[in-house]
Amino acid sequence: MARVLVGVTGGIAAYKACELVRLLVRAGHEVVPLLTPGAERFVAAETFRALARSRAGAEPFPHLERADLLVVAPCSANTLAKLAAGLADNLVTETALAHAGLTLVAPTMNPRMWAHPATQANARVLRERGVEFAGPEEGDTAEGERGVGRMAEPEELLRRCALLLEGRTRLSGRRVLVTAGGTREPLDAVRFVGNRSSGRMGVALAAEAARRGGRVTLLAANLQVPAPADVELVETPTAADLERETLAHAPAADLVLMAAAVADYRPAHARSDKRPKDGAAWTVELEPTTDVLRALAEQPADGRVTVGFAAETGPGGAARAREKLEQKALDLIVVNDVSRADVGFDSPENEVVLIGRDRERAVARAPKEQIAAAVLDEAVRLLEERRG
Ligand SMILES: Cc1cc2nc3c(=O)[nH]c(=O)nc-3n(C[C@H](O)[C@H](O)[C@H](O)COP(=O)(O)O)c2cc1C
Repeated sequence: MARVLVGVTGGIAAYKACELVRLLVRAGHEVVPLLTPGAERFVAAETFRALARSRAGAEPFPHLERADLLVVAPCSANTLAKLAAGLADNLVTETALAHAGLTLVAPTMNPRMWAHPATQANARVLRERGVEFAGPEEGDTAEGERGVGRMAEPEELLRRCALLLEGRTRLSGRRVLVTAGGTREPLDAVRFVGNRSSGRMGVALAAEAARRGGRVTLLAANLQVPAPADVELVETPTAADLERETLAHAPAADLVLMAAAVADYRPAHARSDKRPKDGAAWTVELEPTTDVLRALAEQPADGRVTVGFAAETGPGGAARAREKLEQKALDLIVVNDVSRADVGFDSPENEVVLIGRDRERAVARAPKEQIAAAVLDEAVRLLEERRG
């Protein structure tokens, strides 16, 4: 059983915090609800006290009590800004400033408020300080807009609390670099040589790494799916962009997950204008791109764990992947058979084999989110072995 402080701020979603408190109590935790004056415009403190089974005025200075975890849900844009600035002008912000344990915030606001550079800068400051984020998620807001701003559901918040309290967010404070999508190599101003990768697998990995507390940078090559909200996003449309950003970000990373499908060849001469259609054949010379994994292998790794992905077709794929593991100094390689139509490229599902230096594990067909969790379980195990 843990002692959990639940900070509630002013927004429609404050009513959902009642469910969170109920779930935490049911899970056996001692829960202390704390409301901002803004929150009390939406929900009554009495409701929370009843759900937390606490007596009114039982704790005159709850902000000074020791606690294992502070959860701020919903966390308004206003409170997020106050937390980043270190203000202490109500029970929730005072508590946050005095709290020495883990903090989880669930930002909830209008999508434009969340996208605002001021809010994004505040979120960055808090992440850098080790605050964990749950959401915000994409969906319809109470005002009928669609976008990223919804509060993570209470069940998801409970799951995150459980992970944090069990110390199982073993990526807490770790820097994770993920590449996702497929690069496009220009032929001329409008045409390109590309591949079928949607970015789903890399996005699922980035989301899972962030859920486990990692500070995630996602190098995004033409994603066909939305990127998770709680990661740093860097657009890398071409193989050259992806190579440059990977080599720049990898030295600071504890874990590198190279899920992007990077072009092996690019047109040797890309035209800066659009080639007119003239009925003549167009012969294109392709030149090899830099092998990013090989280039990464030449950097000093300093305890970093590097995971590669191999899109193989047909039998012999696993043997080729094992060779790649050796040649490119990888710690783990995730092999999938892209000749199958039901999994892999473009598909929400995948079926993979995880090949490490000391063991191999087949992961049965599952949604890419579950495959991502299996890959991270293995990568985290390797990271812990290496860094303790
Ligand atoms: C109906 C209504 C809904 C609101 N919902 C939100 C919200 O979801 N997120 C948010 O950041 N602010 C929301 N606000 C604005 C906050 O209540 C306001 O910024 C307030 O100062 C927050 O104070 P607090 O952070 O101390 O609780 C809402 C305001 C109203 C009137």
